Amino acid sequence: MAFLPGAARRLCSLFLCLSLSTLLVRAATRRHEWEVSYQFKSPDCVRKLSATINGQTPGPAIRATQGDTVEVKVRNSLLTENLAIHWHGIRQIGTPWADGTEGVTQCPILPGDTFTYAFVVDRPGTYMYHAHYGMQRSAGLYGVIVVAAAPGGAEPFAYDDEHDVLLNDWWHNSTYELAAGLVSVPMVWVGEPHSLLINGRGKFNCSAALPGTCNATSPECATPVFAVVPGKTYRFRIASVTSLSALNFEIEGHEMTVVEADGHYVKPFVVKNLNIYSGETYSVLIKADQDPNRNYWLASNVVSREPATPTGTAILSYNGDRASPATTPPTGPAWNDTMYRFRQSVATVAHPAHVELPPPRADRTILLLNTQNKIDGRIKWALNGVSFTLPHTPYLVALKRGLLGTFDQRPPPETYAHQGYDVYSPPPNPNATVSDGLYRLQFGSVVDVVLQNANMLAPNKSETHPWHLHGHDFWVLGYGIGRFDPTVHPASYNLKDPILKNTVAVHPYGWTALRFKGDNPGVWAFHCHIEAHFFMGMGVVFEEGIHRVANLPPEIMGCGETKGGH
Ligand code: C2O
Ligand code: CU
Repeated sequence: MAFLPGAARRLCSLFLCLSLSTLLVRAATRRHEWEVSYQFKSPDCVRKLSATINGQTPGPAIRATQGDTVEVKVRNSLLTENLAIHWHGIRQIGTPWADGTEGVTQCPILPGDTFTYAFVVDRPGTYMYHAHYGMQRSAGLYGVIVVAAAPGGAEPFAYDDEHDVLLNDWWHNSTYELAAGLVSVPMVWVGEPHSLLINGRGKFNCSAALPGTCNATSPECATPVFAVVPGKTYRFRIASVTSLSALNFEIEGHEMTVVEADGHYVKPFVVKNLNIYSGETYSVLIKADQDPNRNYWLASNVVSREPATPTGTAILSYNGDRASPATTPPTGPAWNDTMYRFRQSVATVAHPAHVELPPPRADRTILLLNTQNKIDGRIKWALNGVSFTLPHTPYLVALKRGLLGTFDQRPPPETYAHQGYDVYSPPPNPNATVSDGLYRLQFGSVVDVVLQNANMLAPNKSETHPWHLHGHDFWVLGYGIGRFDPTVHPASYNLKDPILKNTVAVHPYGWTALRFKGDNPGVWAFHCHIEAHFFMGMGVVFEEGIHRVANLPPEIMGCGETKGGH
């Protein structure tokens, strides 16, 4: 369907019109109809009740071109379970109610109900979607979104063909078991995953599974094969939807050139393997220039936590056969080599021809100390001593309709007692609380957030947290290890070519500084993308420009408090 949107038409001057229409003339609506239901699947050869889209996990890839509208009609056939689906990396400019974040931007879709998400994919790049209700993502509800550059919008690299690589970790326990364990006293931790999946497939050792539950020859767990033609260059679009694991991805015998991160072009750099955190996407280029008479492993390994899960594998095939290479799959770098991963983070900067300069200074700086705390006997994650909990009335509805009694009106703290704070042995914080308060931002203001990591409750332990911001990309201004000092470290910020991202790691005992503009009317979650951590309170919420949000679709309402304004 070719059309020129009304706004663009109005902008047209005689001269501009030609170029605008070449850019927009192909804007199309990509329509999908999804039925979400539980089905028995064997992604790693072990049968498990999995949340599927049209009978599949992972769900279908969404492919579109920059400027297209994506419309997904979702029917919840989970029978006894609510649902919400988030379009991770899509900023939802003008459609904040389509963000798919239960409790923040919408009421959940009830069993039997249908909800249509519609939004514009305004930038090319690699993104993902996943369930955003409780810990539902871990049940198998996710997939990739690939947005091609608009015709004429050339990318700063070339390739012959491309492949999608969706990385995940997988438990045989149900989502309910995992979630109930986390809120039990004493807590039952989710533990390390049973398998690592590549494009939804892995291989559990059937001799370790319960009798009758594992079928090593099921086609559902056949090792994925990525075909290449000798001499050609491939773009691998890699996305991680893990619930817990930080991963290292390697293609045996093939170096990778990193060219895209979270939908932004990267100043190319070459790696032997790629560290990727939950919620991140990368594109890498590889050249099929090795001996074509054999196959090679694709390997995914756990890093940052002590691994207890076998390597996830797939096959790179030069001649189309599915034979496993005779070699041992790569095992990746040492899991606890933090500096190895830190250096890759620092190396990820904007492509010289695609730098978008950040505003030179911030209007507001929020320092967020990430700690583990015990609250009422339960282990929680807290930011500046406040552990996040979702309200029953979605913020977007509550704020738009003035239902201010539905959540804590005290804003969470902007900072913590950082002077002299020892991140390696933090003081106990027995006064940590649980709250559903949020940060309200001046519309259009520039906000710096500095994430400060610290030791956990257990001694000598600090882990990597991938923080994801909805509704925006942020500039990554800097990383450090140790305590962030607001009087010292901002001087070393990269204001020259910082990458824009939507997910970024804060390394063990480290800090990460980011900057964004609060210019997208709506209410937006910002949280650790480790599913269990968000569930345990590791998140905050920002509101900006609520009065500029257009009338909300009634379909997002109906839960919690429903009275009130207009
Ligand atoms: Cu991909 Cu709020 O998450
Ligand atoms: Cu975390």
